[in-house]
Amino acid sequence: MSPNITPDRNLALELVRVTEAGALGAGKWVGRGDKNAADGAAVDAMRAMLDTVSMSGVVVIGEGEKDEAPMLYNGEQVGNGNGPAVDIAVDPLEGTRLCALAQPNSIAVLAVSERGTMFSPGSAFYMNKIAAGPGAIDVVDIDATPTENVNAVAKVKGVKVTDLNVVVLERPRHDDLIGELRQAGVRVTLIRDGDVAPAIAAAHPETGVDLLMGIGGTPEGVISAAALKCVGGGIVGKLWPANDEERQKLIAEGIDPDRALFTHDLVSGDDVFIAATGVTDGSLLRGVHYHGDTAVTDSIVMRSRSGTVRRIEGRHNFAKLTRFTGREYR
Ligand code: FBP
Repeated sequence: MSPNITPDRNLALELVRVTEAGALGAGKWVGRGDKNAADGAAVDAMRAMLDTVSMSGVVVIGEGEKDEAPMLYNGEQVGNGNGPAVDIAVDPLEGTRLCALAQPNSIAVLAVSERGTMFSPGSAFYMNKIAAGPGAIDVVDIDATPTENVNAVAKVKGVKVTDLNVVVLERPRHDDLIGELRQAGVRVTLIRDGDVAPAIAAAHPETGVDLLMGIGGTPEGVISAAALKCVGGGIVGKLWPANDEERQKLIAEGIDPDRALFTHDLVSGDDVFIAATGVTDGSLLRGVHYHGDTAVTDSIVMRSRSGTVRRIEGRHNFAKLTRFTGREYR
């Protein structure tokens, strides 16, 4: 018999207001070529909304250190101070360049888990990661070759290797990976930036994404782990220090750069909440769309304990919101 737990508050339903605010902030800057302005607008809008959420949050993954980030810096306390003590991973604009260039897959995203349960990346800027959906995650191995991994995934999914679609960040460091994947027969979708959305998409068969592979940001890896913990599937990776100096720094911080990191190493909590809102159209979410004085947002909210995933369409009336908040939305 399972325990009889009374349904409680689902924080994700409050968090979605925060990511909607971030997306609306950044939405004004889509295609305007200014990634810093877009990021700043998202941070500003999210920060204002975060403090309405009933929680006692500490930013574990944010905009960097206090002296370089005025808001949402690592260690900052957020939330209204009531409610659960939680860790926060926030990326107000994941894919700043994508937003500036009106390219697909930029999102505003926020993950929350019990205090002390999120991996703090320290100096680990990059990690080599594989994100996969349920079933597939059990057969991938970060130490195996790309060919071995895609063959194993095709087998467990009961499809041909040539049917698989693997998303990879387009970077010179991935030339060998891309070459080997194509040699193995898979379709490789190259992305300019933004590896969180395709990592989450890998757990949603309707997106057509089977795997995300390659070296990207460690903070993005933690956020992806939080999302995959909610929807099933997962991520496996290894930190990727770019040089010996970075490697030594990690060791000095007590982090073993050679250890494989699994989903539960990145987010060990059992009650994880995540919300994400599209800024530009992408495989997972639609971006912010404007219709006269209204903007429409598309969000996904998830909770690991219940496994519930919700899609939320928001209709935002600028005239009313401006009167209400004093902010300009266009
Ligand atoms: P930003 O949103 O901070 O611009 O990051 C975008 C991103 O593409 C991430 O999605 C990815 O994990 C990382 O940058 C890759 O880093 P790099 O651009 O240095 O290869």
